Amino acid sequence: MANKLVIGNWKMNGSRKSNAELLSKILAPLERLESVDVAICPPFIYLEQLANLVVQSSIQLGAQDLNQAEHGAFTGEISGAMLRDFGCHYVLVGHSERRSLYGEGNDLVATKFQAALRSGLTPVLCVGETLEQRRKGVTLEVVNKQLQAVLDLLGVNQLGGGVLAYEPVWAIGTGETATPEQAQEVHRHIRQYIAENNSEVARTTRILYGGSVKGDNAAELFAQPDIDGGLVGGASLDVHSFLSICKAGQPRHT
Ligand code: PGA
Repeated sequence: MANKLVIGNWKMNGSRKSNAELLSKILAPLERLESVDVAICPPFIYLEQLANLVVQSSIQLGAQDLNQAEHGAFTGEISGAMLRDFGCHYVLVGHSERRSLYGEGNDLVATKFQAALRSGLTPVLCVGETLEQRRKGVTLEVVNKQLQAVLDLLGVNQLGGGVLAYEPVWAIGTGETATPEQAQEVHRHIRQYIAENNSEVARTTRILYGGSVKGDNAAELFAQPDIDGGLVGGASLDVHSFLSICKAGQPRHT
């Protein structure tokens, strides 16, 4: 079985000073963990600083977004090739904040997924329903559509070149976490949905859970059969919380 993967999404937080402090406290303890993969996604402008800080470690670097074009007149944008140039391995695509605050729809997200693969990055495709959609009982349809846009553009094998993250929007930054059962239900559904196209890709694709993952709920979430790790926002900025979450990603020796 693949290692669990924990990705810290710093969002628009950090400073050169606080980044260095955080890294000085998490680097050594993370190196002592076994069989868990860890990545951090700082704001673009700090990628070079973080690339230097993690260079001797097993922590991988990711970015929070990319532009779908390779280069050109796109003021303010960052391409996949640039992210590779700075040592990025992962890039988030379709985070719910990008979808809701910056109007990114499923088709655009699919082209970003494609651009990430083209640049040699591993895209982390974020999917998930709003509270209103959950209340209406359309959670699975919403998630299907979000996945289908990538399947339509690229097919199942390329979808499997990425990582998926189920992030119920109502659980992001709210302190309200999906219960392990609620999360597992959607994760299982996502795996089945992929399996309808290709069972091998369904088996090997990592599906992370995101939405108020904390030190005290990570172990229970990661114990679910279809949860392969976490996408962690707020708690990834706190030394103690992030370390406990990463620790919870280690295989359980029973
Ligand atoms: P949160 O954010 O852990 O602060 O809820 C998760 C995310 O947005 O990826």
